[in-house]
Amino acid sequence: MHILVTGGAGYIGSHTLIELYHAGHTAEVADNLANSSVEAVRRVEKMLDVSIPFHQLDVCNAQALDQLFSHQPFDAIIHFAGLKSVGESVQNPLRYYSTNITSSLNLLSVIKKYHIPHLIFSSSATVYGTPESLPLTENSRTGIGITNPYGHTKYMIEQIMRDFAQSNPTVAITLLRYFNPIGAHESGAIGEDPHDVPNNLLPYIAQVAVGKRPEVQVFGDDYPTPDGTGVRDYIHVVDLARGHVAALAPAQPGVHTYNLGTGKGTSVLELISAFSAACKKELPYRIVARRPGDIAECYADSQKAAQELNWHPTKSIADACRDSWRWQSQNPNGYR
Ligand code: NAD
Ligand code: UD1
Repeated sequence: MHILVTGGAGYIGSHTLIELYHAGHTAEVADNLANSSVEAVRRVEKMLDVSIPFHQLDVCNAQALDQLFSHQPFDAIIHFAGLKSVGESVQNPLRYYSTNITSSLNLLSVIKKYHIPHLIFSSSATVYGTPESLPLTENSRTGIGITNPYGHTKYMIEQIMRDFAQSNPTVAITLLRYFNPIGAHESGAIGEDPHDVPNNLLPYIAQVAVGKRPEVQVFGDDYPTPDGTGVRDYIHVVDLARGHVAALAPAQPGVHTYNLGTGKGTSVLELISAFSAACKKELPYRIVARRPGDIAECYADSQKAAQELNWHPTKSIADACRDSWRWQSQNPNGYR
């Protein structure tokens, strides 16, 4: 299949490009580089020895998007493009609503106009808000207890896509709810390259390991979890990328929703300890107050993806820490 990957220069998008080509697909990237570097795509091209057309465009620009589709037929779209910083979304909610929702609406318009059969959307476990019970299945309650505009955009876009699918019965839409992506490609050539202070735990730990930051701040040790720190379902980004390839298999029209997680919870202290082992250094950390809006525990039931997509994550937390350390130590300033 020939696939348009929006946000393909970003963290998950660049890893997905590799897995798409390994599976025999080809791709083009549309990205405005708001949070990424074209160097990520160049490195993927080098690794695969292919040329990947790169369109520097804002998916919110309906005209530019229309022009792209009028010149090139695509068999499917994988829509990664969007803004993802939870803290920034609280500071600047309009930017988040505008970017994440407008880009998705524009894509749905071209899907309708150019009869694109399949859209895969990057959703998030954040749509589950405060879990009623664990593990989270695709039928778990959504929408209650989402604490930030970023999370609300994911919840709203899922709803918009369901409404669209109702009125366009030939289209397949796959909503992939990611748990916590971590790690990097095992080559060390591509990885996560946060432009500002990392919000997420693993890139923060990696920057402490490389000496860019003095210590990890552990947000609370009084949660009702085995060691008192927050528990999450960390999934290796290469396993996650393979989930997109699995989801491309000819999908029936309608909406399909899948959790992409490992089903296993890991605490903040366990992740720090795993990264310490990978980089062979003691990593300084300090317990501080809870981060507002955080939940104690979150992990997936991903049996639906296993059964229907034949998707099985194969990589461990140790693999993710090793790969992330390789990327961080070989590229201490990311792609710059
Ligand atoms: P990322 O920021 O690395 O990648 C997003 C890409 O989209 C970037 O390359 C950015 O430049 C591009 N982009 C942003 N706005 C754009 C626009 N208007 N037009 C064109 N390109 C635009 O983030 P990521 O971690 O790779 O996440 C990819 C997707 O997965 C996002 O939608 C994110 O919300 C979602 N997601 C990520 C996580 C995570 O922890 N990384 C978890 C759940 C869901
Ligand atoms: C956060 C977002 C969520 C988003 C997800 C993936 C919030 C409230 N939620 O989730 O919407 O989908 O990232 O991008 O921000 N932690 C520390 N110290 C740190 C950073 C994190 O102790 O410096 C802890 C957190 O309290 C949490 C765990 O580490 O227990 C993981 O945090 P993080 O990586 O930010 O992911 P989520 O909280 O799951």
